Amino acid sequence: EKEGFQHYMLKEIYEQPRALKSTMAGHLDEAAGKVTFPGLRLTAEELKEIDKIFIVACGTAYYAGLVGRYAIERLTQIPVDVDVASEFRYQRPLVTAKTLTIVVSQSGETADTLAALREAKRLGSKVLAITNVVGSTIAREADDVIATIAGPEIAVASTKAYTAQLMAFYLFGLYLAQEKQTIDPQEHATLIAALKNVPEQVEKVLENADDLRTFAEGIKDEKSVFFIGRGIDFAVSLEGSLKLKEISYIHSEAYAAGELKHGTLALIEEGTQVIALSTQAELHEKMISNITEVKARGAKVLGITPDSHIELHRTVDELCFIPTTAPLFTPILSVVPLQLIAYYTSLALGNDVDRPRNLAKSVTVE
Ligand code: F6R
Repeated sequence: EKEGFQHYMLKEIYEQPRALKSTMAGHLDEAAGKVTFPGLRLTAEELKEIDKIFIVACGTAYYAGLVGRYAIERLTQIPVDVDVASEFRYQRPLVTAKTLTIVVSQSGETADTLAALREAKRLGSKVLAITNVVGSTIAREADDVIATIAGPEIAVASTKAYTAQLMAFYLFGLYLAQEKQTIDPQEHATLIAALKNVPEQVEKVLENADDLRTFAEGIKDEKSVFFIGRGIDFAVSLEGSLKLKEISYIHSEAYAAGELKHGTLALIEEGTQVIALSTQAELHEKMISNITEVKARGAKVLGITPDSHIELHRTVDELCFIPTTAPLFTPILSVVPLQLIAYYTSLALGNDVDRPRNLAKSVTVE
C-alpha cells in the first residue's frame, strides 16, 4: 500500500498537495470571495461573541497551533493563547463562556488532548476540534469539528496531517475574519486566491527533493542541528526540529533567532549545522544579521526562503527556495523541505523511518 514509495512517511509527504486540496474543498467560494463552513454548528452570533481563543494540542499538532495563533490573531485581532494539552489540563486555564477552545489532533484519541477538551467544556468554553478522524472520541465530544481530509496517516512522524491542520486554521481564520468583518474584503479575496494556489506550490517544493537528499546525507553524522527563525518561521522551525530528532535521533533545537545571543550562541562552533528560515520580508534584515552572527562562529548555514528573496545567497552556504505566496501561508511551503531533510537523514542512517524507537502513533495514555 506504499504505492511504490519506500516508506509511508515519504508517501505521505508526497500526498500533501492532495490532502491540502481535499481539506479546502467546499470551503472556498472564489467567485464570491468567501469562505464557507456549511457544517459548523457555531452560529454567527456565537462567533461574534468570542473574545479569546485557546489552542490546545500535543506535539506536531501543538506546533500547527502556534502557526494557527499567528493566522487567527492577524486576521481577526482576537487574542489567542496556545498550550500543550498536558500543561493546559492542570493549569487552571482562564476560560470563560466567551472563550473558544480549539483542540487539534490528527488521531482524535490523544489522552491529554481529550482531557483538555473535557476541562475546557467543564469551564464553559465551546470546543472546536480540528481532527483527521471524524469518528474519533475527540470529534464526538467536541461541539464542532473541522475535518482535515488528509487520509490515514501511518508513519509515526506526522507530515500531511500537520499541513492539513495549517490549512484548517487558515480557512477558519479567514472565515472568522469575514464574519467578524475584521478584514478588508479586497485583502480577503487576495488571500483566498493565494491559498488556492498553495497545493500546486507544494508540488514545486517536492521537485527539490534530490537536493535535500544530498543535504541530508551530508548532515547525518552531525551531533547537533540548530533551526532558527522569527515569528511564523520560528513556529515552523520547532516542527522541523521535532521531525529531525524523532526519526534521525540527532540532537536538535529550534530557537527564535533573536534569542541566540541569550544563550544558544555558546553552542555554535566550527562546522555546526544551522538551518535558517527567512520567509517574512519585514524580518529578512534581522535574519541576515543573525545568520552573520552564527557564521562568524563557524556555522554552516542552509537558508530557506522564498524565490523572491535572492539576496540571502550572499549570507548562507546553501539555499533552498520555496515559491512565493502570501506571508501568512509560507509555513505550508517551508515545512516541506524540513520534512524531506528529516526523512532522508533518517534513511541515510538506516533507521526505521516509519516506526522510530520509543514512539507510538497515538498516545492514548497520559
Ligand atoms: C510528531 C507526532 C506527534 C503527534 C502528537 C499528537 O511527528 O506525530 O508529536 O503530533 O502525538 O498526536 P495527535 O495529533 O494524534 O493528537
